[in-house]
Amino acid sequence: MARLVIRGGRPLRGEVSISGAKNSALALMVAAALARGETVLHNVPHDRDVMTMADILRELGVKAVFVAPHELHIDGTGLKTDTAPYEAVRQMRASFYVAGLLLARLRRARVPLPGGCQLGSRPVDFHLRGFEALGARVNIEYGYMTAEASRLAGTTIFINRASVGTTINLMLAATLAEGTTVLENAAKEPEIVDLAVLLNSMGARIRGAGTDAIRIDGVDELHPTEHWVIPDRIEAGTYMMAAGITGGDIVLNNVELNHLRTPVGKLMETGLRVEAEAPGRVRAFIDPHVRLRATDVETAPYPGFPTDLQPPFVALLSVADGTSVVRETIFDRFRFVDELRRMGADIRVERDTAIVRGVEKLTGAPVEAMDLRAGAALVLAALAAEGETQISGVELIDRGYEEIEKKLAGVGADIERCEDRDGQGGSNSGIPHQGIWQPTPSG
Ligand code: UD1
Repeated sequence: MARLVIRGGRPLRGEVSISGAKNSALALMVAAALARGETVLHNVPHDRDVMTMADILRELGVKAVFVAPHELHIDGTGLKTDTAPYEAVRQMRASFYVAGLLLARLRRARVPLPGGCQLGSRPVDFHLRGFEALGARVNIEYGYMTAEASRLAGTTIFINRASVGTTINLMLAATLAEGTTVLENAAKEPEIVDLAVLLNSMGARIRGAGTDAIRIDGVDELHPTEHWVIPDRIEAGTYMMAAGITGGDIVLNNVELNHLRTPVGKLMETGLRVEAEAPGRVRAFIDPHVRLRATDVETAPYPGFPTDLQPPFVALLSVADGTSVVRETIFDRFRFVDELRRMGADIRVERDTAIVRGVEKLTGAPVEAMDLRAGAALVLAALAAEGETQISGVELIDRGYEEIEKKLAGVGADIERCEDRDGQGGSNSGIPHQGIWQPTPSG
């Protein structure tokens, strides 16, 4: 178990480099395994979820090797089993993407159902309906989904709620199906576009990614390629908010500002200034004598305000001048506000809405990160709080923020990672999990 220990109250200043997008990388890794031959993915974030996905792919017989810290080679030649490992799939919902891979390559997939999580019930019914529409027989038995098809045939599929995961899974399956598949009401997230770019460079024929109608003309096989993962818009938004909540001035490198229009608009309403300095280089700053202002926000699918930035934004608004109303429309994800309240925040939750009354200051406390983005919210609150905050559950933050303590320390935060071993606290600034870069192949 690890904790982050943060002594708040320092305005952050300096430069930080944003990693490749975790949510993109997870889909791209699975897509790369559709081909025989070695695809090279660059700018892959070295975070826990990526390591979990690499482990899952290896268990399926796919080669997944980091040959440098952010360069991942994937080769689907050895894909040998249609059954995905239970433990890993239960850990991470995106691992359900292997269902699309297995169905496309082997015409049979046996994948554990991901189950619920801290964000409430998260079914995969849209995915299953999509597989059925492509001609698969889908059964749920003993906690596993089994999908089988003698042939996959393209068709038109309407995706409920513009689901990101469903759009990705069906793109994977339809790429190697016979005929044309049209995904209507498809998700429009930049990660979907990134996936289409990779698949097309592997020989797929996909048009319309980034709009709500994606057309996929099936092909017989794909070939390996080389691809650069887009920057992580959620990590970038989080660091902009870190500048705002501490009254700081941070330059972020490797940012695609076009992917952040709505959140940046909202941040500017609070008084934060966000300026493009050069391509990929963005400055986020605020006059330290000016207090952040309250604003209202509602989460929505892209290009709306991302649900993944809602918890950190609530942390920011908790010290803004005035009352903000935050409506969450995608997931049930306000449980983290109990932890913010322990730090002095004044937040009331009514169903899908949080009413945030800005307080003058937060104070440090022992708190627990219950999920990845809740953890990011607590880190922001801690950076602004008076005194010391200890955040447990850091492993969840590691799922999507690469080396968070190093990056924050690099812009002046007083932060350290402490490992609890046999109840003894000790300091360790590395990421303590299987996710270390290994120069040798491991499967
Ligand atoms: C992805 C992102 C996650 C982000 C979310 C919304 C990844 C790995 N994860 O999650 O970070 O917060 O998009 O932008 O990219 N739903 C169903 N049935 C289904 C599928 C979804 O009811 O079969 C519901 C969900 O519960 C949710 C909504 O549809 O209420 C949207 O979920 P979806 O877009 O699928 O999110 P994920 O792909 O799980």
